[in-house]
Amino acid sequence: MEKIQRELVDMLNQALRLEHAARIQYLAHAELVKGINAEAVIGRLKELATDEEKHEAKFRELIGAYLGGEPTMEMGETHREQDIEGILNINLKNEKEAIDFYKEIYRKAKDHKDSLPYVFERIEHELRHVILDEQEHVTELSLLLGL
Ligand SMILES: [Fe+2]
Ligand SMILES: [Fe+2]
Repeated sequence: MEKIQRELVDMLNQALRLEHAARIQYLAHAELVKGINAEAVIGRLKELATDEEKHEAKFRELIGAYLGGEPTMEMGETHREQDIEGILNINLKNEKEAIDFYKEIYRKAKDHKDSLPYVFERIEHELRHVILDEQEHVTELSLLLGL
């Protein structure tokens, strides 16, 4: 495997760890939400978890089929929270961190596009798609927080 492929596999595996953690965190947090606005927030958190599951699948395919690497089964850090506001805030923070990191991967791939003639557009397209989704997640969580 070329150096750039190896670097992208490592970065995408870190992204995959973040997605595993995000999905589990949303599903666990959804069980903790109580109170008058619970229904709407629970529904939203479960929808977010479903999106993260789709991102996992995209990243696994890029790592495996497109870059010849092995997708990780590990999971990143998760955070326990008590109330709705704590839950929304920590997930908003984590979504922003994910966007920052995915943009780093995006730039890395773009800087080496000439070394990735048969996979670059696919990688670029999928990363861009995931970043757009995460930006939607940031917007939805911000709305719920009244920001
Ligand atoms: Fe995601
Ligand atoms: Fe997300």
